[in-house]
Amino acid sequence: MSTILATQSESAADGASKLALRGAMVGIGMIFEETYRPFFEQAYAAGGLYDSRFGLCRVDLAAVASRTGSRAEAYRKSSAGKVHPFESFTGADATAQLLKSNVDFACVATPDNRHFEAAKAILAAGKHLLIEKPSVLSLDELDELEKLAVERGVLAKVVYHKLLDPDHKKLRTLVVDDELKHVNNGYCTLLEPKSISGGQFAEWIVGRNPGTYVAVHYIKLIDFTFGGRLKSVTCTGQRGLVGPADGPTWDSTQLRLIYEYPDRREAAFDIHTSWVTPDNFPGYVEQEVQFRFDNGVWNAHSRKRGIECTIEGSTPFKRKTTMNNHYNGTFLEPWGERSQRGYGIEVIERFVRELAYVEHGGAKAGRDRRLEEVRKLAYNDIAADRQTVAAVQAMEAILAKHAAGTPNCVVEVDHGAGGLVLFAPGTKEPEVLYSGKVNSSR
Ligand SMILES: NC(=O)c1ccc[n+]([C@@H]2O[C@H](COP(=O)([O-])OP(=O)(O)OC[C@H]3O[C@@H](n4cnc5c(N)ncnc54)[C@H](O)[C@@H]3O)[C@@H](O)[C@H]2O)c1
Repeated sequence: MSTILATQSESAADGASKLALRGAMVGIGMIFEETYRPFFEQAYAAGGLYDSRFGLCRVDLAAVASRTGSRAEAYRKSSAGKVHPFESFTGADATAQLLKSNVDFACVATPDNRHFEAAKAILAAGKHLLIEKPSVLSLDELDELEKLAVERGVLAKVVYHKLLDPDHKKLRTLVVDDELKHVNNGYCTLLEPKSISGGQFAEWIVGRNPGTYVAVHYIKLIDFTFGGRLKSVTCTGQRGLVGPADGPTWDSTQLRLIYEYPDRREAAFDIHTSWVTPDNFPGYVEQEVQFRFDNGVWNAHSRKRGIECTIEGSTPFKRKTTMNNHYNGTFLEPWGERSQRGYGIEVIERFVRELAYVEHGGAKAGRDRRLEEVRKLAYNDIAADRQTVAAVQAMEAILAKHAAGTPNCVVEVDHGAGGLVLFAPGTKEPEVLYSGKVNSSR
């Protein structure tokens, strides 16, 4: 299978491909600008996506839905000639209108707590789905999406781009090959600048926390890389900067997950996040992990990947001092071409390639088999997102209890009383957050 986009001259020589996938966006904010926009523009410029399993398949951005449409209009103006002409739907029923248009797949990039409704509508309309992380905020919602995807015979996938970071791929390779033996414990931190909570997300920040927004990257990394069974979740955090000190909006969170492995040994992981780090902090988004194994230690630090660049009047505000050129960077390639590339874009291309394989990778009679094959890819399928969603749901419930005056709750996973069971200090009766089983297969 090729992973190379067809070049402009190839596509021009071939003429328009007969195969096509029409894509849509629900939400076109920051992440659209960073990753989806370059993907759709590159696919357009290249005449499509080439893969030996299906040939050349055009990938068009056909429609977008957003609340006001102002960014869509600005993008329409700035992108003329760079992307397929698209329809823009706005208002409360924007997603419903969009789904009446002719699209094959839709990507959900709305704020974290607005993924479910859009995702459900997309699947119910029989369209393939790609959702930004975190997929949804509860297991009941996840169950509904999983069921709908199977009923309608479509893909339902989630974007966890950190799994495609070359450093994390290497970590997983060493774990799978048993060079790093049995993880015992570890920590991860991800610190976002104040401009995220105070500017960009200010409109939807009330009642939110940075854990759901970014700890989820590491919850998934830990779950996918080390496997095991999630046993319990605890969490605390701080308030007072983004919102009132006794309110429901969190400045920073500290989450702890306990996992158990088939040999009955356990590991603990602490994940610290914030969105109130000073804006002049030199890190792009400060990220650090350390995982300790029976026979080794893995350390990774986003500011120690090797770059430290100072430009008078530019860093660290306009341009970051320690830029992450692996996630998503703009480059002048040695052969003279301007490009934008990185694992943040690769993860979207990968989904569209999998989808094109399902729809166009052989005879119609083989579609179900291909669909099943692609569904088994655990790195992005919602069916494999259960423990991650369980951790997020537990964290949100613990923080909500804390904000309501009961800190230090613990959530047990697959306890006798239910799949997610919250225990509050000083209370005898636990609260069942989810009654089904979280780990049916582990
Ligand atoms: N993969 C990553 O590293 C990464 C990075 C940033 C954000 N994200 C995720 O992407 C999602 C969006 O984040 P963002 O930074 O782009 O947010 P943003 O606030 O910049 O943009 C949100 C967009 O959603 C639209 N929107 C809001 N409510 C809507 C609704 N009900 N129906 C239709 N459109 C609606 C807004 O109009 C806007 O276009 C979040 O879930 C976030 O967690 C992922």
